[in-house]
Amino acid sequence: MKGILLAGGTGTRLYPLTLATSKQLLPIYDKPMVYYPLSTLMLAGIRDIMIISTPQDLPQFQRLLGDGGQFGLRIEYRVQAAPNGIPQAFLIAEDWLAGSPCALALGDNLIFADRLSTMLQQAATQDQGATVFAYQVRDPERYGVVTFDANGKATEIIEKPASPTSSWAVVGLYFYDSRVLDFVRTLRPSARGELEITDLNRAYLEDGSLRVQQLCRGCAWLDAGMPSSLLEASQFVHTIQTRQGMLVGSPSEIAFRMGYITARQLEEHALRMGKTELGHILLSLARQQEL
Ligand code: DAU
Repeated sequence: MKGILLAGGTGTRLYPLTLATSKQLLPIYDKPMVYYPLSTLMLAGIRDIMIISTPQDLPQFQRLLGDGGQFGLRIEYRVQAAPNGIPQAFLIAEDWLAGSPCALALGDNLIFADRLSTMLQQAATQDQGATVFAYQVRDPERYGVVTFDANGKATEIIEKPASPTSSWAVVGLYFYDSRVLDFVRTLRPSARGELEITDLNRAYLEDGSLRVQQLCRGCAWLDAGMPSSLLEASQFVHTIQTRQGMLVGSPSEIAFRMGYITARQLEEHALRMGKTELGHILLSLARQQEL
């Protein structure tokens, strides 16, 4: 399976922070935001990744992540000329996808859960249909909202409903089979002039092939699209890292744990981080393994 990381858009809800820089490069505590969805795709076992961003921001992502080789990945880059909707990513990546199933991660979403990699790898190995994740929130009207019947089967999915009939928001991480482009081509722009990811998910729902997995109570899902959520996400990562000494959203650590890089290479990553907390944690991980 291949993975697309969508990191474009205008970031207007974060003005003036995003007047001169990409939202997805802003810090979430001690790392650039894009590290978190990149980590999510890596935990799913995906190594072929395309990053899509605006013409002005794409070079910064290239500077940060290069060809992905440092993390054992193959990263490609493409421009989205205008933010015409999330599913446009599949049209931009069509020749690169070459009929492969594909995951799509939104560049401003952070997911933290126990056994996340097992759950994601299961989703990535399904070769029929689509898998999306739902999370209970207090403000569902800000998201795609999914309604379930008494047996927990998804019955309806609506983008930003004025009066939500459920508190289950659809998370910005989607797994689709090789038919995704056939479905994308049936989509038409919504009233706000964009192709909607919720319409794509509804097409799979109507096809009878959409799986909606509910994220557990102990899981955290944060989208960092507004100043308050950016702060909450930073506080969350800070709390886990300083309390437990464990990293959240570190592509270096995941590359090491997945066996893509050696302890020696991890040590080099750590040393490049200098005397930071991140460098310190990576170094102790690398040195434990070298003993
Ligand atoms: O965060 C999850 C939510 O993401 C879902 O529940 C919604 O169903 C989905 O529509 C989306 O809602 P948002 O209101 O957050 O969408 P937004 O337009 O902010 O776009 C999400 C991210 O994708 C954002 O980081 C910018 C990027 N983006 C968006 C569009 C429309 C692009 O790179 N290109 C685009 O054309």
